[in-house]
Amino acid sequence: MSKCDTYYLTTPIYYVNDVPHIGHAYTTIIADTIARYARLKGIDTFFLTGTDEHGQKIEEAAKKRGKTPKEYADEISAKFKALWDEFEICYDKFIRTTDPEHIKGVQKAFLTMYENGDIYKDYYEGHYCVGCESFVAPSQLVNDELCPDCGRPTRIIKEESYFFRLSKYQDKILEWLKTKKPILPEAKANEIIRFVEDGLKDLSITRTSFEWGIKLPKEINDPKHVVYVWLDALFNYLTALGYGSEDETLLKKYWPAKLHIVGKDILKFHAVYWPAFLMSIGFELPKVIAAHGWWTRDGEKMSKSKGNVINPKEVADAYGIENFRYFMLREVPFGADGDFSEKALIDRINNDLGNDLGNLLNRIIGMAYKYFDGKITSKNVEKYYPNELNEARDIVKDLEKTYLWKMQIHKFLEELWKVLSIGNKAIDTYKPWELMKNSEEEKAAALLGLIANLLALVAVNLHAVMPKTTGKIAKALGFEINKDTFAAIMDGKLLNDFVIEKIPPLFPKIEKPLMKKVEVKENKPVNLITIDEFFKTELKIGKILVAEEIKKSKKLLRLEVDLGEEKPRQIIAGIKEYYKPEELIDTYVCVVSNLKPAKLMGMMSEGMLLGAKDENGFSLIRPEKPKKTGTPIK
Ligand code: ME8
Ligand code: MG
Repeated sequence: MSKCDTYYLTTPIYYVNDVPHIGHAYTTIIADTIARYARLKGIDTFFLTGTDEHGQKIEEAAKKRGKTPKEYADEISAKFKALWDEFEICYDKFIRTTDPEHIKGVQKAFLTMYENGDIYKDYYEGHYCVGCESFVAPSQLVNDELCPDCGRPTRIIKEESYFFRLSKYQDKILEWLKTKKPILPEAKANEIIRFVEDGLKDLSITRTSFEWGIKLPKEINDPKHVVYVWLDALFNYLTALGYGSEDETLLKKYWPAKLHIVGKDILKFHAVYWPAFLMSIGFELPKVIAAHGWWTRDGEKMSKSKGNVINPKEVADAYGIENFRYFMLREVPFGADGDFSEKALIDRINNDLGNDLGNLLNRIIGMAYKYFDGKITSKNVEKYYPNELNEARDIVKDLEKTYLWKMQIHKFLEELWKVLSIGNKAIDTYKPWELMKNSEEEKAAALLGLIANLLALVAVNLHAVMPKTTGKIAKALGFEINKDTFAAIMDGKLLNDFVIEKIPPLFPKIEKPLMKKVEVKENKPVNLITIDEFFKTELKIGKILVAEEIKKSKKLLRLEVDLGEEKPRQIIAGIKEYYKPEELIDTYVCVVSNLKPAKLMGMMSEGMLLGAKDENGFSLIRPEKPKKTGTPIK
């Protein structure tokens, strides 16, 4: 990469249906590290992150909490932003898909694709996974019903929809994937290539059965449609640079993106749909799409229902943000899945950081004060220790090219640690205390000089991963890390003479886990009750005689239900969204009959119907056989 190049890199924009967890932190920390490294090299860098705020999933998540989608999005988006700020993530822009400029840009893109003949109106009937916000072809379904990506049940939707001619781009996408090899790690490319070779169907890109999304451009004049959330979301990478606004300076400067970092869950959207959209509007394609693996906790998938989701802030508070960064980047090969355990984290801190790095610094601080009043000089390092010095220089020379830009950050760190081994080994081999005894002071001093220079090499290379910690190391060694010192040290310049600063140990040994223990919830029933308690609830079979809308209410119906008593009961039921009055009349239901009467919208309700709701909708519980009204349910 030449210096005059610009470097635009992005994270996914995260859904605001839920708060950030370590998976989101992982992606963002990788991006932050690459951005910091690029800047240290003097490359003009633009780093984008943000939140993805439209779509059915978010509309439903907000509803569940009694909030409007926008209120809910504001709240969660702010949490992401606050976390990144606390983690000192050096992003240049935090985009929200509810930003008016983004909305304008998406409409422009949609219209352009439409005018280019790539969009047509039709009808979608098929499966949809709300969790993944993705249309699932019948051949991809697991057990005829489940989403192949997340394993949750899909819903069947039938609605008018605009389609994007994805099929038209099949060959071009294949050619791009095969010739440009934009996917990292390369092993992941094969899956995507196979997916494309299997044949691309046109993609539904609007929805009509809910509201929370970007309206179609007014020129198309079809107000019941909203833009499919993935089309909306992917275009953030362009709108963040001003696509669709008056000012496209940034767009001209930074597009095409050099790097989209994503998790493996969303590689298909980035490596197939996104390039097709870009081709349709005549834009260059991104250079690299890097997909990392999945984090689990103590070997288990993290999920809210298990209660084992890791809050990144909790980890950072307990162990330090930078130690956490180092752990995540060092622990798993990019692309592979990783397991978070406190033990693994503590081992990395105590061994890699404490023993290898921290101790080396402590050792030379101790010796420098014991023998030389803290003074360290690079004089004679090349004379006495040319092999060690050259070996270290060889290691760091190609680190970035071989590993960093290929996202192999774990290898980058592993290799860098070899420089520390050289240092630790040199002390054990040359034994400065013996050199001092034998009056070889010059050689002992040069050894400390060697170690200081090895630490400087490590510090500048580690800076992007651990900015503050390496800042402290550099300060102890009498310099400051910036693009000039980085370049000079990488170029072979040795440190000026300095008095080493006595700093307290950077990585005090961690003896035991510091985070609150989580109880992983088993899926066994909680709150057990006795049979007597259960029978406090009187349940009876009832028959609905009358069902009417309550005009002022969106949710309520007024029912009269025969429970085999003198006269029918009036029950006000919140089922208007799911049942039409006429389809209820003369049907049988299960009723809680000893509920204290309550007033709803000014009307007495003398019981409650049993029903159940899941993501596919709501249904009343009905008796299969005994249909005599008033029959007790036991
Ligand atoms: O997919 N391990 O948003 P999202 C590793 N809005 N990484 C994880 C992870 C885990 N357990 N969980 C999440 C979306 N991630 C869309 C993206 S982009 C135009 C739109 C990370 O909130 C990983 O980077 O579901 C994954 O791709 C991303 O969060 C998904 O975030
Ligand atoms: Mg997701």
